[in-house]
Amino acid sequence: MSAEAPTSGFVPPVYPYARLDALKQRAAEAPGGIVDLSIGTPNDPVPDVVVEALAKAGPDSAGYPRAIGAPALREAAAGWMERSFGVSLDPVQVVSVIGTKELVASLPHLLRLRDPSRDTVLYPAVSYPTYAMGAQLGGCRAVPVPLGEDWHLDLSAVPEDDARRAVLLWVNEPGNPTGSQSAAGPLGEAVAWARSRGVVVASDECYVEFNWDEAGTFVPGATALQAGVDGVLAVHSLSKRSNMAGYRCGFLAGDGDLVAYLASVRTHAGMMVPGPIQAAATAAWNDDEHVALQRARYAERRAYARSRLGEAGLVDAGGPSSFYLWARSADSAEDGWAVTARLAGTGTLVAAGDLYGDGGAGHVRIALVEPLDRLELAFDRIAVDDHPDLSTARGTGVPPTKAAGAAKGATEQ
Ligand SMILES: Cc1ncc(COP(=O)(O)O)c(C=O)c1O
Repeated sequence: MSAEAPTSGFVPPVYPYARLDALKQRAAEAPGGIVDLSIGTPNDPVPDVVVEALAKAGPDSAGYPRAIGAPALREAAAGWMERSFGVSLDPVQVVSVIGTKELVASLPHLLRLRDPSRDTVLYPAVSYPTYAMGAQLGGCRAVPVPLGEDWHLDLSAVPEDDARRAVLLWVNEPGNPTGSQSAAGPLGEAVAWARSRGVVVASDECYVEFNWDEAGTFVPGATALQAGVDGVLAVHSLSKRSNMAGYRCGFLAGDGDLVAYLASVRTHAGMMVPGPIQAAATAAWNDDEHVALQRARYAERRAYARSRLGEAGLVDAGGPSSFYLWARSADSAEDGWAVTARLAGTGTLVAAGDLYGDGGAGHVRIALVEPLDRLELAFDRIAVDDHPDLSTARGTGVPPTKAAGAAKGATEQ
């Protein structure tokens, strides 16, 4: 076989965050160092209860873990669903996943295996890039659904032909990057729309613990499973809720038939969360105290960052939830890449909005993952009034190419 690159077939595009590499370098050169608000990776401590459970599970873990998850883990996840949403699930309706990114990337493929008559994945037009990538990897058409009021899906804009061909509809509330608020109304509408068309709904609810209203008050979020489990999967992660992105653990839950199918295929494929991580994850789902602490941290940062956006020449243009601010420039001539370049020149890295879809091009996403003193440093350095020379940096944010090629040194999310 030739070692030369094939001339046809799937060629992965540049990894979205790798497009920030040059600006990351620029930000790193600023006095005081980089304040990296580009990736939604937690920087706060892993909760003690998790560390202790992992230590107790210990390195003596010789046997294979179950791909579906240990009974204690599935029970803990079901217990958390009941406490959080009042939804009662049998633990057999829960299956562990190796972080939800792998599920997002593989679900279209698995659902298409189950129903080859459908070939389309619908997903929010401004969203986590892996929804579209998963469709591509599964040999499906990736069809973005426009966002309407308050950054919720506008399903009325989906052509009936795309709906008829759809194997899957992704919903993500609270939304990354838009900060849309999770509420039973829009989720229920999405489920009703999809159910009446025979489309499976996967509701990615990994930010649900960080659900605020416009006044910054925490409002318990919703799950799509409150609209009934038929044809619905809820997807949850410990990465954001419990600062466990490095552990790689989440779960999917819902429709018994779908869950059984996915559990079976995933078992055949060996998609196993390591045993000690399952023990740590069990402790995390059984504990809510550490989540309240983390929620308070993000709420404080959100309020602080919002209060200083104006000084940075930015406007909050997103919803009130998640730990992202979805902002745009006060100057309509300055697009997302220009803002990203301007901020990088002061040492702060944010994510240009078009990493989340072409519709995001006018925006930037600010991930509030750094502690308050780092945010303070960032905004002190950005403050436009203190840096009139910054205006010369505008227009230098030419987006690195989206062209195909291998991503080098990408930071992942
Ligand atoms: C909307 C959304 N879904 C899924 C994920 C994947 O999270 P993980 O694979 O860590 O569970 C992320 C990560 O940023 C996300 O923003």
